[in-house]
Amino acid sequence: MSATPDVVTNTHQQPFLSGQMTPVSDELDVPSCKVTGEIPASLRGKFVQNGPNPRFEPQGRYHMFDGDGMLHAVDFKDGSVSYKNRWIRTPMLEAEIRAGRALYPGLADLMNFPDPALVGDAGPIKNPANTHIVKHAGKFLALYETGLPVEVTADLETLGVRDFDGKLPSGITAHPRIDPVTQEMFFFAYSPFPPYLRYFVADAQGRLVHSVDLATPAPTMIHDFLITDEHAVFLDSPLVLNMNAINEGGPMVSFKPENGTRLGVMPRFGQADDIIWHDIENGHVQHFWNGWHENGIVEVSGTFNSNPQFGMDTDGDMDDSSASAQAGVATRFKIDLAKGKATVEKFDDMEGDFCRFNDEMNGVRTRHHYMGGFQDERGIIGQFDTLVKYDDQTNGRETWYSGKNHHLGEAVFAPNPGGAAEDDGWLVFTDHDHVENTTDVCVVDAQNLEAGPIARVHMPRKVPFGFHVNWFKAEA
Ligand SMILES: [Fe+2]
Repeated sequence: MSATPDVVTNTHQQPFLSGQMTPVSDELDVPSCKVTGEIPASLRGKFVQNGPNPRFEPQGRYHMFDGDGMLHAVDFKDGSVSYKNRWIRTPMLEAEIRAGRALYPGLADLMNFPDPALVGDAGPIKNPANTHIVKHAGKFLALYETGLPVEVTADLETLGVRDFDGKLPSGITAHPRIDPVTQEMFFFAYSPFPPYLRYFVADAQGRLVHSVDLATPAPTMIHDFLITDEHAVFLDSPLVLNMNAINEGGPMVSFKPENGTRLGVMPRFGQADDIIWHDIENGHVQHFWNGWHENGIVEVSGTFNSNPQFGMDTDGDMDDSSASAQAGVATRFKIDLAKGKATVEKFDDMEGDFCRFNDEMNGVRTRHHYMGGFQDERGIIGQFDTLVKYDDQTNGRETWYSGKNHHLGEAVFAPNPGGAAEDDGWLVFTDHDHVENTTDVCVVDAQNLEAGPIARVHMPRKVPFGFHVNWFKAEA
């Protein structure tokens, strides 16, 4: 265990450094956590959350996207549960640790570059690697919206930045898709400068084997995409990037309905000319569930927001209005490849996000889809009050409400290793109590969601707000 003397004090009273977002200043190793309820014997593996946790007092205005990535791992093993957390030691954070203070500005002051003499090879812009963690080709990769992957070990020690042997020209999405059968990883990168969108495939061994520049009319923010067993599917929405805002003020991401909204479908290994775009009504999807292809129809689903405001205002207050993408409502999209037409069907009115499903079925039809929802007042995505399960076959919805003063993080589906049914497994997620300032990691039987947690792992101290979580099953 190591405590750091430089606790972030939030002397400027910034909203993204208060409440559950107040960073923790320690790195703990707790071999046995207190558990209420019963952990299923076959739930063996690691739940890992990635999220922002600034190591040093920010120099200026702080946005939740700026914080240094910190991983929190809860390991379910042979009847006991351990906890560990570590910062991701990016080259930028290492430079700040050497200096003993923050060197990099936040997104709101991006062009206020740090002194090259202090940051050295780490470069002028921080990649905090704070958004997601995936495992591909045996490697754990911490990901950011626009950063190169940072490899960490199963024990959360940082190994270094990975650029696919120099083949990646830029940072990539935090939402790659991994085919559970071929073990290929599909991903993309967007940019405010041409080419606005790039698409990549890495093979099962982690080698970059396909790279295509795709043409979109404007630079747009693309947070997530999908695969089917044959296709890559992109959403080009009217969330248009404006880098001039850094110098001229105003939002860096604006909803511009005149840009239109379209779904693009291309073969997994297609070239730039192979993508076919299909216009749909205006809106944005921050996170998708699954996609599949049957009888000439590509079907995908996600949480659709018809009037998204992303904020990222460079000269506005850092209040909740600049927080993040807003939640959407559960929506399915069907693209008729022969007719070249796409339809949009909203199938619920509860707002939510952080769409998850059984990842072992990525690219083929799934019946059960999970998300975090809001029954009380809508908040920041990642601070939900309700766990939601949709049944595509019955059009039914099941929910579990956490209670007032609780915030639920993303719920990941952990499959039962011996199970046959798609929803045979558990949902694992954080439940933060704002009054007590404590966090539990909860386990819910995915086939009996409305019963609520069958087990709660009590964290040794609160786990701060996180973005995405993942489940890594124990090696046999
Ligand atoms: Fe995300």
